Amino acid sequence: MRKKLPIHDFLIGHARKNPISFHMPGHKGSAIYKRLGYGEFLNNIMDCDITEIAGADNLFQTEGIIRESMKVYENLYDSKKSYLLINGTSGGIIAAIMAAVPKGKKIIMARNSHKSVFNALGLAHIQPLYAYPDMIEEYGISGAIPPEEIEKLLKSNPDAEAVILPSPNYYGICSDINSIAEIVHKYNKILIVDQAHGAHLKMFSKFGVKGLPKSAEESGADIVINSTHKTLTSYTQSAILNLNTDRVSPYVIEDKLQSIESTSPSYILMASLDINANILLQHGQELMPQWADNLNIFYNEAGKIEGMEYIDKVLGMDWTKINFSLGSLGISGDELEKILLEKYRIFIELYTGDLVMCMTGIGNTKTDIVRLVNALKEIASERAGFSQKQQIRTRNDSGHLLAYKKSEIYEIPREKIRIPLLQAEGRICASSIIPYPPGIPLVCPGEKFEKEILYYIKSLREHGEKVIGVNAAGEVVVGADK
Ligand SMILES: Cc1ncc(COP(=O)(O)O)c(C=O)c1O
Repeated sequence: MRKKLPIHDFLIGHARKNPISFHMPGHKGSAIYKRLGYGEFLNNIMDCDITEIAGADNLFQTEGIIRESMKVYENLYDSKKSYLLINGTSGGIIAAIMAAVPKGKKIIMARNSHKSVFNALGLAHIQPLYAYPDMIEEYGISGAIPPEEIEKLLKSNPDAEAVILPSPNYYGICSDINSIAEIVHKYNKILIVDQAHGAHLKMFSKFGVKGLPKSAEESGADIVINSTHKTLTSYTQSAILNLNTDRVSPYVIEDKLQSIESTSPSYILMASLDINANILLQHGQELMPQWADNLNIFYNEAGKIEGMEYIDKVLGMDWTKINFSLGSLGISGDELEKILLEKYRIFIELYTGDLVMCMTGIGNTKTDIVRLVNALKEIASERAGFSQKQQIRTRNDSGHLLAYKKSEIYEIPREKIRIPLLQAEGRICASSIIPYPPGIPLVCPGEKFEKEILYYIKSLREHGEKVIGVNAAGEVVVGADK
């Protein structure tokens, strides 16, 4: 009998379940490639796994087929230059920061940035100046970065070189990039937008779908990095960096990209980017409005479900991310995730307290959406009449709110030790604490561990959430000095 193949067997088992995916990646499986005529690539995937043979061009000196594909993206995003990335938006963010901010200098950054931003700081010894997001207390999640916050920081820190923020954030909330770009450029600085979750925004406007926030490309950002794999049809780990400015030299960007990306770039990933661009060009006109129509089915039907609350299609909201709660019926996020999975084979992206987020993508069909909304109708009707007194209100993501509160930043410790989590009160963090998802550091190196945060981290672990930075023995890394 063949030996167990741990990863392979898991994946095949998952594929056999025929899951309904409301998590990344955006293609949602092979159906969209097959339906639109890219099946030959799927059938020959192993033989397409090549390296830089004759005629295959070179990702780090593009003159042939890769350059051609870049041009298609430049057309789609109306950028000055578009780069294919094979180390995700994470790699693009690190390269963009290193290109915009000289070693040892300062950057203004959203405190709720992705960990790749924090990694760039460490690699280039860049000092952060934190811009804090608004908090949406009703849902317990972080909101937009106010333009005034950026202006205040730029005014008091004329030596900051650039600004970086995520928009949309994980939940779909966009910042006012138009106003922020105006402010940043008034101070003659560079604006980088982490649009990992919004690669599709430009495509909605390109193909005439109204009602979604404008993309950062259309709003004046200098560098925008897009995880096309999260919501469109390229493979996981592929992404696109759009350079829209003369404020940063393409040669510097190219140098930084080649220094952090793999020297064996995957042609499978690059081909999936190529296919993604082709799908948008050939079928965007029909696919983007269809996606919006399917979402409208959800929002129209969800409004009729007794006890259901959801973040509506409000201004500044990327409503392709569906955020909803059955907390008023006493159903917590983790319970709802389990019911959807076990009874309906529906996989969600994440939950925060009682708020569940389903990440839709271009590959979701009308059937997927109808199944989701019907499942929610059924679950809600089974719980109808639930005593309001017992409603679940765990959505206050209090730990995150606490962490994002403006804390003092100390020097990052050089001498480090590991100690049990609950003994870390008052100690300086030496290795980020990052719940996954959403991958945003709760405590960063140089911040002090406070008692409430330590208990919050403990409770996350007790609820089975993955918290990077706390090892299996429940220890964290702190500065050796007390
Ligand atoms: C806000 C944000 N930025 C950047 C990234 C990194 O993107 P990628 O997975 O393409 O490297 C993520 C990943 O989840 C993210 O959530």
